[in-house]
Amino acid sequence: MKFTLLLTSVLSALSLLPSTHAWGQEGHQIVATIAEVYLQPNILPTLCSVLNNQNAANTCSLASVASWADQIRNKMKWSAPLHYANAVADHPPQLCLFPGAKGWEGRQDGNVLAAIRNTTDLLYQWVQQGSDPSDPVASEALKFLIHFVGDMHQPFHLAGRERGANEVHVHWGNKKANLHAVWDTQVVVRAVENTPSQWEKPLAPAVEEHLHGSPYDPLIRKVLVQGISQTWADEFDSWIHCPAANPSTSGGGDQIVFQPQWKPDETDDEFICPWNWATPIHQLTCDWVWPKQLDEPPYNENGGPLLQLDTEEYAGKITEEWVVEKLLAMAGVRLASIINLVFAQQGH
Ligand SMILES: *[C@@H]1O[C@H](CO)[C@@H](O)[C@H](O)[C@H]1NC(C)=O
Repeated sequence: MKFTLLLTSVLSALSLLPSTHAWGQEGHQIVATIAEVYLQPNILPTLCSVLNNQNAANTCSLASVASWADQIRNKMKWSAPLHYANAVADHPPQLCLFPGAKGWEGRQDGNVLAAIRNTTDLLYQWVQQGSDPSDPVASEALKFLIHFVGDMHQPFHLAGRERGANEVHVHWGNKKANLHAVWDTQVVVRAVENTPSQWEKPLAPAVEEHLHGSPYDPLIRKVLVQGISQTWADEFDSWIHCPAANPSTSGGGDQIVFQPQWKPDETDDEFICPWNWATPIHQLTCDWVWPKQLDEPPYNENGGPLLQLDTEEYAGKITEEWVVEKLLAMAGVRLASIINLVFAQQGH
C-alpha cells in the first residue's frame, strides 16, 4: 500500500517533466532494459568494458547510457538528423511514403536507418578486431545504436510531415503539447502509470538482475511475461526476421516493380533490416496514429481549437491495444538481436 502511494507520486512527478526530443528517458531506458534481458549472457561484460560506466556497486546497464545521444545532441550537431528518417513528400495521414521516389530529406546516409546500419557495422569491425575496451569509436557507436533502435520505434520519428509532427499542436488532458512529444513521453508515462504493481512479483534471477528498481519495472515485467511470452509469442520470430531478397528487385515476369531512388539494400541485409522493420511502424501514421481530424474543421482552421488526444478513442486505444508496450518490446528485442548477431562472429 505504502509502495503504491509512493509509486503514484513518483509517476505524477514524472508526468510533469518537460517533453524531450525522442522517446523520453523512460522509453529509451525501457527499450535498453528489455534488450539486456535478451542478450546472450557472455556479451554484457564486453559491452560494459567499452562503455566504461561501471558504478560503485560494480554493476552496469544499457539503460544508463540509453539517453546519451539526446544529451550530446547539441554538442555533436551532426548527429541530430540521425534520430529520425523523413521521406520527401511524406504526408500522413493522406499519403505515406517511405521513402518514395525522391528519397529521404537530408543526406541519404544521415537518418536513423542508415545510422543503425553504420553503428552496427562499426561494432562488427570492433568485434573482429578483438573488442579493445579503450576504443572510443566503439563506445560511441554502441551508445548511438542503443538509442537509435529506440527512436526507430517511435512512429513520429519516421514521419516526414511537419518535422515529424513537432509542429502539430494538440491537447493532452489540460496541457498543450505537440503530437511528436505526446508520443515521445506522454503515452509512455501513461503506459507506466496504467501498469498495476501486481507485476512486482519476481521473475527468474537472470531477468531480475537487469531490472533497476525503476518506476517502469512493472511495465517491463508485464511486457516480458504477458506480452512477449504470451500475447505476441507467435509473432516474436517475425520481429527479428529479415527478408532474404531485396523487395524492390524480387518478383519478376510482367509484375511492375516500384524502384525508388534509394534502395533498401543500403541499410538492410538478410540479418539486420532497419528499413523493413520500420516500414510498418511508419505506416501507423497513415492508419490512425496521425489523427485525421487534424486536417478537418475546426481543427485545421487558423485559431481553431486544439484536438484533445487524451480521449477514449485515441489514448484509450493506445492503452487497450498495448500499442506502446508492443513498440518498446519490438525495439528491445531487435536491439538485442543486432548485438547478439554482431557478437556471434566473435573469435571467427
Ligand atoms: C557512423 O558512426 C560513427 C560512430 O558514432 C560516427 O563517428 C560517424 O560519423 C557515423 N557515420 C555516419 C555516416 O553517420
